[in-house]
Amino acid sequence: RVYSEEELYRPNFHYTPKKGWMNDPNGMFFYNGYYHLFYQHYPDSNVWGPMHWGHAISNDLITWTEKPIAIYPDEKGYIFSGSAVVDLKNTSGFGSLQNPPIVAMFTYHNPVKEKAGEAGVQSQGIAYSLDEGLTWTKYEKNPVVKFPSVKDFRDPKMTWDNVHKQWLMVLAAGDKTMFYSSKNLKDWQLLSDFGKNIGAHGGVWECPDFFPMLIDGSDEYKWVLLLSINPGGPNGGSATQYFVGDFDGTTFTLDESFSQDLKQHKSLWIDYGRDNYAGVTWSNISETDGRKLFTGWMSNWQYANKVPTEKWRGSMTLPRELKLIKAGNHFRVSSQPVKELQNYVSKTIKKEVLKIEKKTVLIDKSLIDLSRVDIRFTMKNLKKDVYTFSLSNNANNTIHFGINTKDKYFFIDRRKSGDLSFSDVFAKQISKAPFTEDFDKMDVRILIDKTSIEVFYNNGQTVMTEIFFPEKPMETFSVIKENFNFKIENLIINQLKF
Ligand code: FRU
Repeated sequence: RVYSEEELYRPNFHYTPKKGWMNDPNGMFFYNGYYHLFYQHYPDSNVWGPMHWGHAISNDLITWTEKPIAIYPDEKGYIFSGSAVVDLKNTSGFGSLQNPPIVAMFTYHNPVKEKAGEAGVQSQGIAYSLDEGLTWTKYEKNPVVKFPSVKDFRDPKMTWDNVHKQWLMVLAAGDKTMFYSSKNLKDWQLLSDFGKNIGAHGGVWECPDFFPMLIDGSDEYKWVLLLSINPGGPNGGSATQYFVGDFDGTTFTLDESFSQDLKQHKSLWIDYGRDNYAGVTWSNISETDGRKLFTGWMSNWQYANKVPTEKWRGSMTLPRELKLIKAGNHFRVSSQPVKELQNYVSKTIKKEVLKIEKKTVLIDKSLIDLSRVDIRFTMKNLKKDVYTFSLSNNANNTIHFGINTKDKYFFIDRRKSGDLSFSDVFAKQISKAPFTEDFDKMDVRILIDKTSIEVFYNNGQTVMTEIFFPEKPMETFSVIKENFNFKIENLIINQLKF
C-alpha cells in the first residue's frame, strides 16, 4: 500500500473525523442496532475551538460512518463533554413509549463569562433526540444544573441505576466529583461528593463515569468510578484513574481492599500509556449483551493541538470491553479490544513455540502489513531481565516496548519513533507502568495501527496506549534478548482488512 503524505498518519481502524479537530468521546449509546459515538469537535479548524458534538455511527464498533454535526454551540456557550441515555420509559416526557427519547446532558461553557472573569462559566444543559441521535432539540429551561461558585464544573455522565431505580449523574467539580439523582432527567438533586484527598490530584478532575459492575466470574457487584485527570497522569499530562467501592444510593465509599491498594499504588489507571484520555462507557448496552464498553480519546493535552496531521486531528482508542477482576485481594479494572475486531481478520500467521536466544524477527512486511495487526502471545520462562519488543522501518524509526522484570515495570519508548519535532515533551522519556508482583509468564496482546500501539498485558489488567508518527509505515516486528533465553508461545498474528 502507498499512502499519500496527508493520509500517511490517518489510522486504518481507529475512528477519526474526516476533517477538523476532535477530542473527548461523548454521549455514546447503543440503540436499535447502532452504536452512536459523539465527540468534542471543532469542524472549522484542526486545533481546539468552539466545541460542537460530532457524530458517527456503527453497527459493530469497528467501522464508522460520520453523520452531520449533532449539537452546535449557541449563545449560552460551547458544548463541552457529557453523556446520553436512552429514556426507554420516557421519564423525561420528551418522547413517548413508542418512540423513547434519547436525552443528552452536556456542559455549557460560556466563553464570554470566562473572559469577563464572571462566575458561572460552566453549567449543565440537556437536549433530546427523537430520531435516534441524528437531530437534537435543546431543552428550553437550560441550564438544568447550575453551580456558579466552582470554576471547573463539567462533564456530566448519566446512568440508569437499576439497583436503586434512579437516574444518576456524576460530574467533575475541580478536585472532586459530585453525584446527583433524578426521576425525570430534568430535575437533579445533589446526593454527595467524593474524592477530596483521594487518588491522584496532579491536575483538575474531568470526565467522570460511575456504574455498577459484576465482579468477573461471580454474581456480586461493586461500583466503579472512572476519573480523568489533566495534568497529573502517571507518565505526564492526561490520564484516567479508577476507584472501586460501594454505593448505597447516596454515597460512594471505597472498598476496603481498594483503599489498601491506593496506599501502595497511590492511584490505579485504566491505561498507563500517554494516549488514552477522557474515556467513558457506552450506555444502553442490552442486558443480553451485558458488556461494559469503553472508548477513550487517543491523545494527550500536552501535545494534542500540535500532532503532525493537517486535515484532521485526534483519534479514538479501539472500543474496549471492561471487566472488574478480583485477583487475590485486589480489584483491577481490565480492558480488552472488543470481540468484533475478530470479524476483520484477513490473514493469520501462527507459531506455536519460539525459543528466543538472540534478537529475533517475529514478522516483517514480506508477510504482514504491520500498520493493521492484532498480535497475541504468551511469554514464558521469564527471569529478572529486560524483555524488549521493537517495531521498526528502514527510515530508522523504532518503537520499543516490553517488560523490565528487574525494576518492575512495563514500558513504551517512542523516543526514536519518527516525527518528534512538534513537541518538546512528546518523546522526552519512556513511559512506564509499574507492577509489584513477580511472575514468570505473561500474556500480551498488541494492536498496531499506522500511528498507534495499544498493548494489553495480563488480560488487559495493565494497558499502555501511545501514538507515534513514523516517516513511513512500520515494517518489522522483532524481539531483543538481553541476558536470559525465554520462550514465546502461541503467537498469533492477525492482519486486519481495512
Ligand atoms: C477533557 C475536557 C473536558 C471538557 C472538554 C472540552 O479533555 O477538558 O473536561 O468538557 O475537554 O473540550
